[in-house]
Amino acid sequence: MSFQFQTRLGLGTWQMGESARSEAQEIAAIASAIEMGYQLIDTAEMYGSGQAEILIGKALQRVGKNTRDHLQIVSKVLPSNASTKGTITACERSIQRMGCEYLDCYLLHWQGSYSYEATLEGFIKLQERGLIRSYGISNFDAPDVNDWLAAEQNVGSPYQTVCNQVYYALNARGIEYDLIPLMQEKNIALMAYSPLGGGGLMRDPKLIGLAKEAGLTPAQVALAWVLRQPNAVAIPKTVHPERLKENLSAANLVLDDALLKALDQIFAPPIQKKPLMVI
Ligand SMILES: NC(=O)c1ccc[n+]([C@@H]2O[C@H](COP(=O)([O-])OP(=O)(O)OC[C@H]3O[C@@H](n4cnc5c(N)ncnc54)[C@H](OP(=O)(O)O)[C@@H]3O)[C@@H](O)[C@H]2O)c1
Repeated sequence: MSFQFQTRLGLGTWQMGESARSEAQEIAAIASAIEMGYQLIDTAEMYGSGQAEILIGKALQRVGKNTRDHLQIVSKVLPSNASTKGTITACERSIQRMGCEYLDCYLLHWQGSYSYEATLEGFIKLQERGLIRSYGISNFDAPDVNDWLAAEQNVGSPYQTVCNQVYYALNARGIEYDLIPLMQEKNIALMAYSPLGGGGLMRDPKLIGLAKEAGLTPAQVALAWVLRQPNAVAIPKTVHPERLKENLSAANLVLDDALLKALDQIFAPPIQKKPLMVI
């Protein structure tokens, strides 16, 4: 059966696990997210050098292990670990830190010096062993996606690349020019990271004004705008319960044409190729 994201809005965990002082708040935030209905968590071995995954593991214990079945967990291998063997051991370490038995999707965080074939061989072995349910890429621009898919053919993968996790937000629309159309053609889901512009968009006076007129919050507008794309999921990060709720509510919002037009006037769509933005 082919892999699908079961939800359109997940929780990001970058910058969690970086300080012992905020650990309790972060575990509580992940646990309340799961309890309020989040079904997708994004993390990476890089975040807090493994600590973000440890916090996810602690939150899972708190909410009860049986919630694992209703959750999709995504993690990422660092390029410096992305040899065939390194990919496998990095994945095993991530699973151990979270105590989550398997990952729903495992991504190459960005391109490094190992060949795509080497990383793909690792992904294939992990999927054969049931340690991952799918694999994908992150920070890949259109030409890189084509190279990756060629490598996938070279190694004769029985599986498919299911998503590309890239920066996509009102202030980062470059990928609409060629990357999103390519991903749609290849049936690769868009996993939009930093959909609130890393938080900066929340302070944009024009966005604040438009959201107010529409009776929405800036976060709801920014997230619903990302999710107007077909086959897309967004993974905002927050550690505040009220913001967790606010962000989740955007999954069911549809922005009207007048608001979309007004947003286009402030955050113009690309008219030519732009280099992929990376945070
Ligand atoms: N693959 C990659 O290379 C890559 C790169 C960057 C990010 N990511 C993933 O994408 C996730 C999200 O990206 P991000 O963390 O860079 O940025 P983001 O989700 O766009 O923004 C997060 C910031 O916005 C604030 N925020 C969240 N909800 C809010 C709301 N409703 N109202 C006002 N402020 C709000 C958060 O603060 P509080 O926590 O204080 O609420 C935080 O400072 C990451 O956590 C990570 O999982 C992946």
